[in-house]
Amino acid sequence: MSDQQKSFSSSFGAIMAAVGSAVGLGNIWRFPYICGKYGGGAFLVVYLCFVFLLGAVLMMSEFVIGRRSQHTQMKAFTSLAPNHKGWCIFGLLGVIASFFILSQYLVLSGWTTGYLCKAVSGSLASLGTDATAISAYFTTFSTSPLQPVIFLTIFSVLVLVVILGGVQKGIENVSKVLMPILVVLILVLCVRSLTLPGAGKGVEYLFSPDFSKLSGEGVLAALGQALFSLSVGMGVMVVYGSYIPVSDNIFKTSMWITACDTLIAVLAGLSIFPAVFSCGFDPAGGPGLVFCVLPNVFNTMGTAGSIFAAIFFVLLAVAALTSAISLLEGLTAWFCEHTHASRRLAAPFFFLLTTALGIVFALSFSTLSEVKITGYNLFDFVDRLNSIYLPPICALGTVIFFGWVLPEKDVKDELSNHGTLKIGYYPVFRFLARYVAPLALLVVLISGIFA
Ligand code: TRP
Repeated sequence: MSDQQKSFSSSFGAIMAAVGSAVGLGNIWRFPYICGKYGGGAFLVVYLCFVFLLGAVLMMSEFVIGRRSQHTQMKAFTSLAPNHKGWCIFGLLGVIASFFILSQYLVLSGWTTGYLCKAVSGSLASLGTDATAISAYFTTFSTSPLQPVIFLTIFSVLVLVVILGGVQKGIENVSKVLMPILVVLILVLCVRSLTLPGAGKGVEYLFSPDFSKLSGEGVLAALGQALFSLSVGMGVMVVYGSYIPVSDNIFKTSMWITACDTLIAVLAGLSIFPAVFSCGFDPAGGPGLVFCVLPNVFNTMGTAGSIFAAIFFVLLAVAALTSAISLLEGLTAWFCEHTHASRRLAAPFFFLLTTALGIVFALSFSTLSEVKITGYNLFDFVDRLNSIYLPPICALGTVIFFGWVLPEKDVKDELSNHGTLKIGYYPVFRFLARYVAPLALLVVLISGIFA
């Protein structure tokens, strides 16, 4: 019966679950790196505008669609606008996007799980501070046909177990425990990093505004990052919206989630860059930063470094876990609704499919490295699909549906909890949802395709 309990039990639970979805690899390794790359403080200003003016608006739209309809991505559209059934195509695209994002996410999560084990077992520490050896270690690990697959599978099983637990006992309870732990871990790392000698240089790299580095590309990166980081545009928040208790204030809930997500991204930057600069390393991007530079940074800190390394990889794994949970939940809930299958059947089904595809992507660094689609290896191909094409298309469809198709009285009624809450922000919100968000998304989509 627990899988029929389709609601979070409290406002706190709902916020923690959605923060769990939002705070992921995107916050901890992607945000700090692109913030530094595209002009630090200048990027941050643009990013904050996008997060609060567009990301939060999209999140509210998805929550309204989900809670109003009490359906998952596709049926939500058809049930709210029965005369415009075609819009459900964007729900379907969201499902497809979540499927690919999860498969790709599992690869990085598998690497993280592997490094977590290596940090705890001491094998990372034994590499010392030889940058070449540490990079070679990562290359050997990621191009091995076995290790990434094993760790990926372990991680996916964890995700499956939580989903099988159901909405309240699985997702909500796990998020309520893991999210506060994540905050404590990130604060510990932050304090350590900021009190190292020369930490100021890292803070400067992150925050001092350099508008010359903020190109058009940087602005687009900020928007893409804002959507990805808040988990919006893929219908996952429609599903979570349908679980939000009816008495919750959607505006407040969305603001809390957005603020927590942004704060954690900034704290991640403050945990990483001051330490990187203090130890005299160059900041690198993506996997290079987390798997090659950071182990070296930890190893320069001696014995305490091993503890900080373990804390860091636990942090990353926790963040990845709750995000992967939301992606699998989006798929599971959608499948259950359309086939009337039980959660016990639907979750393992998508677990098998996404894990299998994840393994294929993981092997694109080793056994399958010769397989190319339009010149990209499989991982890079799906990365482009997941960042340039699918998210902005789905987000655009959702926000146009919300702003132009969904009857306004439904929106007002849902935001005001049937007239019991004041919604003074509504005119601004509506303007953003009808005009600003669609235009911005269109620009991102077009420039992404032609860039
Ligand atoms: N927001 C997560 C991150 O920052 C990723 C994520 C989880 C996501 N669920 C999503 C992205 C749904 C888009 C849609 O890493």
